[in-house]
Amino acid sequence: LARGAAPRDLAGRHVVVSAGGTREAIDPVRFIGNRSSGLQGYALARTAVARGARVTLVAANVALPDPAGADIAAVTSAEEMRAAVLEAAAGADAVVMAAAVADFRPAGYRGSKIKKTDGAEPEPIRLVKNPDILAELGRERRPGQVVVGFAAETDDVLANGRAKLARKGSDLLVVNQVGEDLTFGRPDNAAVILGADGSRTEVPRGAKEALADAVWDLVAERLPAPPR
Ligand code: CTP
Ligand code: CA
Repeated sequence: LARGAAPRDLAGRHVVVSAGGTREAIDPVRFIGNRSSGLQGYALARTAVARGARVTLVAANVALPDPAGADIAAVTSAEEMRAAVLEAAAGADAVVMAAAVADFRPAGYRGSKIKKTDGAEPEPIRLVKNPDILAELGRERRPGQVVVGFAAETDDVLANGRAKLARKGSDLLVVNQVGEDLTFGRPDNAAVILGADGSRTEVPRGAKEALADAVWDLVAERLPAPPR
């Protein structure tokens, strides 16, 4: 294949990709965050553009150049990500949640910077649950829409992945094995992609673009034929 000759199998499709990691504010200068770099989500956006899709990229706290040809919505927190993803998903053929969404946020935002007071120990920060965006997409999807999640697992990776796929109501779950710096901030990735139909696709360690293309292959297979 000549360079740049990607299959145009997503032409006429609108896909939504979330990327990066949410930040949950504690006070005006502090937040709870995570180590997601956004590299996998950006690779998904770039490859989808190359395959002809219209792409909405919902990006949380990512320090990467904007992928050419994608519409970008920048968000900070899980609640902002939920609003942006659900709005874009309302008309989309597929949604891929590659972002690391914080499970919890501080129960109350302190409008003023928390000060240390001499001698006193700090107040504990109480956390509350964030909405589960992927589970909501799984419950409220439009007919024919393909919903894809990502999961980073340790221990019993496949069993955990199968259980999570069922719990979220997604069509596909991309399961990474994490630990010992296997994934975060690295340009390459290895994964198993589990399908709700029982399928299992092993993607060997390689560029995040290769994993992205493997995801789009499986999404394209599951999309209903476009209206003609
Ligand atoms: N996700 C989401 N909203 C959340 C938490 C996670 O949409 N509040 C999405 C992530 O973007 C990812 C998938 O759900 O695509 C799985 O995330 P993960 O953290 O592995 O699953 P959890 O259900 O949060 O389970 P746990 O962290 O306890 O393993
Ligand atoms: Ca989680």
